[in-house]
Amino acid sequence: PARGLMDSFGRRATDLRISLIDKCNLRCTYCMPAEGLPWLSKDQLLSAEEIRRLVHIGVNTLGVRELRLTGGEPLVRADLVDIIAALRADHPELPIAMTTNAIGLERKAAALAEAGLTRVNISLDSVHRETFAQLTRRDSLDKVLIGVEAAAAAGLTPLKINAVLMRGINDVHAADLLAWSIERGFELRFIEQMPLDGDQQWNKEGTISAAETRELLSARFVLTPTPENRDGAPAERFDVYPLGTSAEAILGGLAGEPLGRVGVIASVTEPFCADCRRTRLTAEGRVMSCLFSNEEFDLMHLLRNPATTDSEIAQAWAEAMWLKPAAHGTDRPGFDLASFHRPDRSMSAIGG
Ligand code: GTP
Ligand code: 5AD
Ligand code: SF4
Repeated sequence: PARGLMDSFGRRATDLRISLIDKCNLRCTYCMPAEGLPWLSKDQLLSAEEIRRLVHIGVNTLGVRELRLTGGEPLVRADLVDIIAALRADHPELPIAMTTNAIGLERKAAALAEAGLTRVNISLDSVHRETFAQLTRRDSLDKVLIGVEAAAAAGLTPLKINAVLMRGINDVHAADLLAWSIERGFELRFIEQMPLDGDQQWNKEGTISAAETRELLSARFVLTPTPENRDGAPAERFDVYPLGTSAEAILGGLAGEPLGRVGVIASVTEPFCADCRRTRLTAEGRVMSCLFSNEEFDLMHLLRNPATTDSEIAQAWAEAMWLKPAAHGTDRPGFDLASFHRPDRSMSAIGG
């Protein structure tokens, strides 16, 4: 298709996110119900070969320029290293990132880097053991911290940390997490919680907004917007200076280098849908044009029909993306949860 993955509002998707598996070894309250979900069986998942074919089609005929592997938890997939090696062999220049909780990275980080993984974003909401356990419903902080170190040591950088703040749980530790990230040279991003939790407990009032996050951080740091253009990225980025640094000193260039950077992803209060460049494939091979879209387009049955050509798959994918909704609308003044149509999937089954 000549237009690539263009939608009816003129946006073109160039970032492909593929969920490799729906399973996860944590149960973050904002992402999955405590009891888990009915998992897909192995033959319901896209195979390594099918993933390879889809990425080939995306890159060679649909204008995909960046790839992100997600889950569930992608490290749970046994053939992860082989998948990455195959993708890298086909696409020597393609940026391949992964979003992970880092459990198991200790053993795999070096092999993943060697296979051709470019970088990782790691989900970590708290560096306090009890708080981490409360949020993820698993006492696994130590494993995560070892995994984070291994990723940094393997050069899977720039390494970003994703944190979702939950009121009364980890919000009080927001500045601690920033200090921890800065010490290690990681870029922390705080993400507003979206209505994609497994338990359907989300409400807008409970969401810690980007503005509130900045206020929490300003008890310990001074934040100023970074000079670079945001360029369609979900995160708005800030330079972080020590408390007490004056605006005059920063603007006059007298404040020295910032301590580090922090991002806030205001998915709910200031969504970035107008600049969205994402196309998603679920673990069972369906196109999701948007996190909040309720229509899914099954590519699996096409992939598994030996008569289907690559150009038929490209055409079906492009048609699915054409129907991408304009925006989810959680920022609208009259936003009303009762009439908001949530997607049928929780975040864990979409891939973030
Ligand atoms: P970078 O290239 O490293 O900036 O990746 P990323 O931030 O796009 O990827 P990551 O998987 O780390 O996503 C971070 C968070 O941003 C996700 O967990 C979501 O909460 C949010 N996010 C990512 N994509 C979208 C999107 O298309 N729409 C909305 N509303 N939020 C998104
Ligand atoms: N809202 C916002 N972000 C979420 N994530 C998971 N569930 C939600 C939600 N409801 C994020 C995690 C992880 C990424 C894959 O998705 O923090 O970094
Ligand atoms: Fe893109 Fe949909 Fe996310 Fe908005 S909600 S940024 S349109 S995927």
